[in-house]
Amino acid sequence: MRKYINDRFPHFLHGADYNPEQWIHSKEIWDKDMELMKKANCNEMTVGIFSWEALEPEEGKFDFSFLDEIIDKIYKNGGRVVLATPSGARPRWLAEKYPEVLRVREDGSRERFGGRHNHCYTSPVYREKVRIINTKLAERYGKHPAVIAWHISNEYYGECYCDMCEHEFREFLRKRYDNDIEKLNHAYWSYFWSHKYNSFEEIEFPGEHGETTIHGLNLDFRRFVSYQTTDFMNAEIEAIRSVCPDIPVTTNMMPGTYPTNYYEMAQKLDVISWDSYPDWHNQNQLGEACHTAFWHEFFRSLKNRPFMLMESAPGLVNWKAYNKLKRPGMDRLASLQAVAHGSDTVQYFQWRKSRGSVEKFHGAVVDHVGTDETRVFKAVQATGATLKAIDEVAGSMPKVRVAIIYDWENRWALGDAQGFALHDKKYMPTCLQYYRPFWKRGIAVDIVSAHGDFKKYDLVIAPMLYMTDHDTIHRITEYVKNGGNFYGTYMLGMVDDTDLCYLGGYPAENLKEVFGIWNEEIDTLYPEERVKIVADGKEYEGVDYSERIHVRGAKTLAVYDSEFYAGMPALTVNHYGKGKAYYQAFRDTGALWEDMAAVLLQEIGINDALECELPKGVCVHKREADGVEYLFVQNYSGEKINELSLGKEYFDMEAQTVTKTVALDEFDVKVLKSVI
Ligand code: GLA
Ligand code: ZN
Repeated sequence: MRKYINDRFPHFLHGADYNPEQWIHSKEIWDKDMELMKKANCNEMTVGIFSWEALEPEEGKFDFSFLDEIIDKIYKNGGRVVLATPSGARPRWLAEKYPEVLRVREDGSRERFGGRHNHCYTSPVYREKVRIINTKLAERYGKHPAVIAWHISNEYYGECYCDMCEHEFREFLRKRYDNDIEKLNHAYWSYFWSHKYNSFEEIEFPGEHGETTIHGLNLDFRRFVSYQTTDFMNAEIEAIRSVCPDIPVTTNMMPGTYPTNYYEMAQKLDVISWDSYPDWHNQNQLGEACHTAFWHEFFRSLKNRPFMLMESAPGLVNWKAYNKLKRPGMDRLASLQAVAHGSDTVQYFQWRKSRGSVEKFHGAVVDHVGTDETRVFKAVQATGATLKAIDEVAGSMPKVRVAIIYDWENRWALGDAQGFALHDKKYMPTCLQYYRPFWKRGIAVDIVSAHGDFKKYDLVIAPMLYMTDHDTIHRITEYVKNGGNFYGTYMLGMVDDTDLCYLGGYPAENLKEVFGIWNEEIDTLYPEERVKIVADGKEYEGVDYSERIHVRGAKTLAVYDSEFYAGMPALTVNHYGKGKAYYQAFRDTGALWEDMAAVLLQEIGINDALECELPKGVCVHKREADGVEYLFVQNYSGEKINELSLGKEYFDMEAQTVTKTVALDEFDVKVLKSVI
């Protein structure tokens, strides 16, 4: 069953953020844009993101003329529109008249008008003004045939420390702890250093000049900020949906955003979209490709359906330390990489380069020269041509049997933990290391939270799942009991969801039975240190962390061969119920995991996407629908591949030929279809 972004338009979208209001005094540009849109093989424009000033120049006085005109124009020229709500940046009058909408910083100072993405998510005035403009937009454009998705605000981010937010924080805690301050005191272990609270009114935001030492409080603050941001977004969605229930809503997310738990934010959205700006052509191009793929997998997994690549840079960005041009081919390869992992759109920031202000040198489909004669324009055109040729891929999905847990709350708790390697626990790079062998083999992986549905998968990997709440312990137990393969690592099951340590030995509670081990202590190594590990006569190296674990029923697969823990187990497996629970007690360099992943995949019976030897830097990812497989053969190596043998016949969707081999240029990608 194919799932489309919008069933009314079962095709790929190819387009960009478009800000025609910047050119309102030179409307010939608008006509030129329409001509260029068609030439670029684009069929979509995202409009209205920062248009509040143009739409409501004075409080309560609305002027939709520019949007009316531009949406009609786009539609007449064969395009579709993703329409944004404008709350990402507010007009000056709003801040002048209602300063409460401006964010307060941690030091208590209120921001002045300026910038964007910096409003208070609690402010009733801001919420009301946003509700009004959103409702008007929904009423006016909800039935327009051009509009196929709502783009809610833009890149929600950050926190506000105003009194209203602090009040809401207390209410949030009241609810969480059943209005019982003693429950909170227990969870916060607040007898420590005499930090006990006598009432909810005494609670303040954690912050540099106040409380920073109560980890439970820090964690709840993170939860609150995320909750409040999501609640604000949900209110925006509500305003739209109450008028226009049948157009899907999305908001553009960012990779790895710290303050917002995207698993929660995803719930009310119909479709996930994200903004991808990798550092292509850096010292580690393959690492960058794998890292980007991880995020594509993550965003697809949020809703288990095709997602939108809402923003990507044509050519280059302007906000990195070094703003390097994408090399020929890279635009198309990066775009098709997103598609390979489940994106049904390729969209750019931005369509036309702005003339002034802070983004005037950011890449755009149309440069200041204003023509179709640029290298970047032609690259976009080429990507568009590919998307047209492979349009039938839209709506298909990869088949997924493996999941990696990347959990937001765990990330917050680990980030705050005082111990281990103090400044960087390397949670994200570790998750990435576990993803890498799958990426190389073209095996799709879902990235899920600790509250994900494990039952769907044959293998679940939980790197550094330090915070493991009771419910997760229960679900891990059930999953393994019923035949699942669960791979846990050092730090598993150390604290509960209030960041209180589990008593009675790690990993927590029943996990000791499930894994058949007891983890007595963890050693943090200096960065240059290595410990030796031996498995099956082969030597590996451990870095950063090594735990001293004791076997209690598990079978040892690898042992330490250095330090005072030489001879102790380093990797174990335990048969529990019908399944298996693996425990890796140390951080490896990646070499052991490469080998282990191969063993596990063989045991479970998951094959590589293409069963042939791939040259370094080439990988293949798949989507499937209706019994047909679509293969994306991607070359990140920067070198030509003259002939890659595919092992069997495939249909090259662009060349329209049946072939058993492909040749790939530098940064090239070929899309193949299985021949039944
Ligand atoms: C973000 C924003 C865009 C733009 C781009 C520039 O993703 O959403 O408005 O500023 O960055 O790369
Ligand atoms: Zn606030």
